[in-house]
Amino acid sequence: MNLSSVTQLATFEKIDLKPMKYDPIDTQLFVKNRAKFMSQMRPKSLAVFNSNDIYPISADSTLPFAQHRDIFYLSGADQEETILVLFPDATEKKHREVLFVRETSEHIAVWEGAKLTKEQATAISGITTIYWLSDFERIFFDLMTEAQTVYFNTNEHYRQAVETETREDRFITKCKRDFPAHMWAKSNPILQQIRGVKEPEEIKLMQHACDITEKGFRRILEFTEPGVWEYEMEAEFLHEFIRNRSKGFAYTPIIASGKNANVLHYIENNLQVKEGDLILMDVGAEYANYSSDMTRTIPANGKFSPRQKEVYNAVLRVKNQATNMLVPGTLWAEYHKEVGKIMTSELLGLGLLDKADVQNEDKDRPAYKKYFMHGTSHHIGLDTHDYGELKTPMKPNMVFTVEPGIYIPAEGFGIRIEDDVVIQDSGIPHNLMRNIPIEADEIESLMAS
Ligand code: GLY
Ligand code: MN
Ligand code: MN
Repeated sequence: MNLSSVTQLATFEKIDLKPMKYDPIDTQLFVKNRAKFMSQMRPKSLAVFNSNDIYPISADSTLPFAQHRDIFYLSGADQEETILVLFPDATEKKHREVLFVRETSEHIAVWEGAKLTKEQATAISGITTIYWLSDFERIFFDLMTEAQTVYFNTNEHYRQAVETETREDRFITKCKRDFPAHMWAKSNPILQQIRGVKEPEEIKLMQHACDITEKGFRRILEFTEPGVWEYEMEAEFLHEFIRNRSKGFAYTPIIASGKNANVLHYIENNLQVKEGDLILMDVGAEYANYSSDMTRTIPANGKFSPRQKEVYNAVLRVKNQATNMLVPGTLWAEYHKEVGKIMTSELLGLGLLDKADVQNEDKDRPAYKKYFMHGTSHHIGLDTHDYGELKTPMKPNMVFTVEPGIYIPAEGFGIRIEDDVVIQDSGIPHNLMRNIPIEADEIESLMAS
């Protein structure tokens, strides 16, 4: 596609876009993303990407729609019942990139509100060929007669555990039945590779998500005192997120006071905060489908006890040293081993481990894991635990969280601190959460004011 024509398409003043909570995203992002994907496709192949279903609750209730991140990444289309087909070798140029959207009507407009028109779909995605979904079978059959290989978008994320049948799964089953003589290929490895390295537009959107999270955290510093309930704190965050044009939490938030912080996936958020508690908050806003992922741990009464501060500062030192290792060339597995060594030395300093614990440790289950049992970093982007290569050296513009923690059930508290960091060519990591208060003294002084 000719880039200057796309730039014209992206002139949003010309076309009334369907209003979204977030500001329009530069079409160039999706044009670049598709070009990256297509450059890795085999000759005479096409790739298909489906949107998510709207998931049912029961009766006529549904969960709010959340777009599948892959079709969003490649098209910007943030609407249900959308299909993207990429076919770089299609004989007809207009069929190299095709987007199918649900046909809108007066009736749909009255009952459900505005859906994408063809012109709007083009303006958002930079794709000139837009068809209604009802044309899919006919056009897809025609394209398949030219194609030899179909790329299916299966989910190979290292933490995936999906039990429901997705729209993509249904499409794959049907396609294999209808076209049994074609060859199949996997989209996922390409997506893992390209989605793992962010474009400048994406880093800007992620910074925006982090800035919204910062507003939520500053509100919490004013709000928190002994006696508040964890769910009241959750509500304060959500209020601040939504009023700043986020759809809400990027993932289910954890507001864990006292001993609850030692349950790593505590999401009930239903207890009352007590005097002397620490409160661990793992909360991030989404913006334009991009995640932020923050953890801060604060004292309920505004002042850390000496022991709490000692452990807090140990976690913070580990986080700072781990961050400095996020440079081009670092291997994720080696990095985790190094962070483990730093954590071990801090745990020795805190008296939580002794030399014998470390000398006798099982190398497959090092002693530090008793107090720090999860990973330090994951890719973050359109998904909170994002796609991204983990077995090749880190590259500039990958974005990782850094999230060490020390959990001490015997002392009734747990501490985690988490920031989101961009790897840079210069070797100096860029912290997207650099403005979110983190030093114990700063948190105390903000809570006192
Ligand atoms: N909030 C999820 C995580 O930190 O990985
Ligand atoms: Mn987190
Ligand atoms: Mn995280």
